[in-house]
Amino acid sequence: MKVRHKGRLEPYKTVSFDPTRNAVLLIDQRLLPHRFEVVAILNYRATARAIKDMVVRGAGAIGATAGFGLAQGARAFRGANLERFDAHCAMVFRTLKEARPTAIDPVNAMNGVLAAMAAGDTVEAKKALALSAAEEFAWNDVKHCREIGERGVPLIKPGMRILTHCNAGWLAFVDIGSATAPLYAAHSRGIKFHVFCDETRPRCQGASLTAWELAQEGISHQVIADNAAGFLMWRGEIDLVIVGSDRVLGRTGEVANKIGTYTKALLAKRHGIPFYVAIPFSTIDWEMHGGRDIPIEERSEEEVCGAWGVDSNGQHTYVRIANPTSGARNPGFDVTPPDLITGIITPRGIFKPRELWKNRTKLKC
Ligand code: MRU
Repeated sequence: MKVRHKGRLEPYKTVSFDPTRNAVLLIDQRLLPHRFEVVAILNYRATARAIKDMVVRGAGAIGATAGFGLAQGARAFRGANLERFDAHCAMVFRTLKEARPTAIDPVNAMNGVLAAMAAGDTVEAKKALALSAAEEFAWNDVKHCREIGERGVPLIKPGMRILTHCNAGWLAFVDIGSATAPLYAAHSRGIKFHVFCDETRPRCQGASLTAWELAQEGISHQVIADNAAGFLMWRGEIDLVIVGSDRVLGRTGEVANKIGTYTKALLAKRHGIPFYVAIPFSTIDWEMHGGRDIPIEERSEEEVCGAWGVDSNGQHTYVRIANPTSGARNPGFDVTPPDLITGIITPRGIFKPRELWKNRTKLKC
C-alpha cells in the first residue's frame, strides 16, 4: 500500500527482509497512527520479541515475520554440521512459535519453511531454501489477499455501511489485508460506501490502525466505541460486517478473532445483518477438533487498565485509566461459532463455515 511519509507517497510492505543485513524489516505498528517508522530487526530472538511486543501484529503479518525469522535464525548459524543445524533451527522455530499462541499463520509459515529446507543436503543449501520459502510465504500472502478482494467485492454495494473489528487490513498482512481486501477492491472500482471501525479495546487497533489505513486510502469511515455497534444495528445503520481471523478451524468452521468479535456476530444475527470472515489459506487450522482447544492469549493487565497515545507535545505515552489498586482480565481473542457466520471469504470463493472441511483440497495452498 502507498503511504505518505516525509512528503512522499511511496509503496510499503508491512513485513520484508533485507538479506544483506539478515534483517527483518517491520513497520513499527505501536507508533501508528502518530508516527511512521520502519525498523530493522537483526536476529531471531529480537524478531520473536517484536512479535510478542506487537511491533508487528495481525495473523498474516506475524506469519510472514515468523517465516523470515526462521530463515534469519537459520542463516545466522555458523558451521556445516547438519545435526547441530537442525537442532538450532528447531530452537528458532520454538522461540518464534511461543511469541504469540493464538494465530496459526506463524506455525503454517514456519512449517512451509521447514518443509522446503528438507530438500537441501548441506547447511548452506538449507539456508538458501529457507529464505526463498519465507519469501514465497510473503508473496502468497499478498496474492491471496488480492484474491480475497476479488471474491468479496460483489458483497460491497453502493451506499453500504460496513462494520469491521480490530485490524485485518494491510497492516495485519504483508499487504492489502483480508477483511479490507473487498473494501479496497470496491473502492478502486469507484463504489462509494462507509466503514465503521470498532475502536477495539484494549489496544485500539481499529481506532489507530484500521482508521489510519482507510484514511490513507481516502475511504469514508468513522471510529465507534466498541459498545456502539448494537445500537447502530438496531437503528438500521449497519448493513454488513466483515472481520478477519487469527485461526479458523477447518473441521468445525469456528473462528478465533480479536476479543469482541463473538459479541458482534451475536448482534449481527439478532439484527439479520450478514456477518463475513475473510481469510487466506494460512489462517486455516486443519488439525484441531474444537474451538475450546484454541490457545487464547492472555495479555497484560496494563492494556485494560490504561491506554497509549500521544500527549500535547507529541510524546508517545501511557495513561492509567482504571482504579490504581484494581487488577484486570485480558483475553486477547474469542471464538465465534459457525452458526453466527454467513460466510468465510477465501481466495477460492465464499464458503459456509461448515463447508470448509469438504472443500479442503481446494483450500490448501
Ligand atoms: O492482537 P492482534 O492485533 O495481533 O490481533 C490480530 C487482529 O488484528 C485481529 O484479530 C484480526 O481481526 C485478525 S488478524 C488478520
